[in-house]
Amino acid sequence: MLRFLTAGESHGKGLIGILEGLPAGLGIDRGFVDRELRRRQLGYGRGGRMKIERDRVEILAGVRHGETLGSPVSFLITNRDWENWTTAMSAEGGAEGADRREITRPRPGHADLPGVLKYRRSDVRDILERASARETAARVAGGALARLLLRRYGIRIGSHVLAVGSERVGAEFEHLPFERILALDPESPLRAADAEAEERMMAAIDRARAGGDTLGGAIEVVAGGVPPGLGSHVQWDRRLDGWIAQAMLSIPSAKACEIGCGLEGARTPGSGVHDAIMYDAGRGFYHATNRAGGIEGGMSNGEEIRVRVYCKPIPTLGRPLASVDLRSFEPAAGALERGDTCAVPAAGVVAEAMLGLVVARAFIEKFGGDSVAEIDARYEEYRRHLGSR
Ligand SMILES: Cc1cc2nc3c(=O)[nH]c(=O)nc-3n(C[C@H](O)[C@H](O)[C@H](O)COP(=O)(O)O)c2cc1C
Repeated sequence: MLRFLTAGESHGKGLIGILEGLPAGLGIDRGFVDRELRRRQLGYGRGGRMKIERDRVEILAGVRHGETLGSPVSFLITNRDWENWTTAMSAEGGAEGADRREITRPRPGHADLPGVLKYRRSDVRDILERASARETAARVAGGALARLLLRRYGIRIGSHVLAVGSERVGAEFEHLPFERILALDPESPLRAADAEAEERMMAAIDRARAGGDTLGGAIEVVAGGVPPGLGSHVQWDRRLDGWIAQAMLSIPSAKACEIGCGLEGARTPGSGVHDAIMYDAGRGFYHATNRAGGIEGGMSNGEEIRVRVYCKPIPTLGRPLASVDLRSFEPAAGALERGDTCAVPAAGVVAEAMLGLVVARAFIEKFGGDSVAEIDARYEEYRRHLGSR
């Protein structure tokens, strides 16, 4: 089983990840991990932090001479801003009067208020440092490692932006072919395929920023080359769609996700929703359409897995909403922390990582072995089985 944990605060020394369950003998392309980290930092509407951080992964354990050992893979992403926070974020007991950069005004829409109540903290910083989406850098690195395993078996993942605020790509860009998603320029402002809509999205971000406001939006994340039979119908907690929904909604700001035609399917008769089954001697079984988004009965069905994720606007506003000071109980505007106006393209990169982690987990569950050689043999045998059907 593939297990993944992260640790680290936003202004602490760095982020740590542990990925356990990767088979031995997998080639580790650190450049791929760093490229994914860079993609997460891009996107029109990001704040000043992205200019400070140039994320790089440092592998601490589980890899030797470029290959996994089968032991837990552990890595570090150093926070470049740490040097400015050594006192405020020190693990040692602070000297009397030391600058703690304390925050006592919880921000609406953030983890701040439920966090301080739950953990009995009086400084909101004790919560926001971990709740910050800085943590998603570790997910992107862990997801990239999982995707290296998937790549070996021809499974690739990409994403594109569908909407920012109320600006949306044209209908012809909604169901973008997978190869066009993969070919999108990672350095483009918003990774939206519709250049004209992208201009409108950027203008909307400019207007929001000028007004002290923020914007959310929607992305689509797609996995191609997934064999049928990942996940299972036999138990509720083995369904791949359930794993995907949990992984997507765990992304900070993600509030909804759809698989395939999703909500639209609830409004449409069955004949317009389900995908006719076809057979071709060369291709085997396939579907005439892919409205199911590649999953039926909790299992991958051999088509592309297509998931849409909807993100709420960033909660830290230039013009903060009303809040209450934790000490005085007096009304006070929510605290300001330097941040993003819109992080929808970055959320897409995080969604790719999360989809990579759950698809890799399902892949290892089905074909798992201690080494890639064992998985190769099992996968090959399964492909022969599919080919004989
Ligand atoms: C890539 C990314 C960057 C984000 N940047 C910020 C930010 O700069 N400021 C902020 O307040 N929220 C930011 N968020 C959103 C918050 O982390 C999130 O809304 C908050 O933790 C509350 O969680 P919830 O929205 O899931 O309820 C970002 C989210 C993502 C995915």
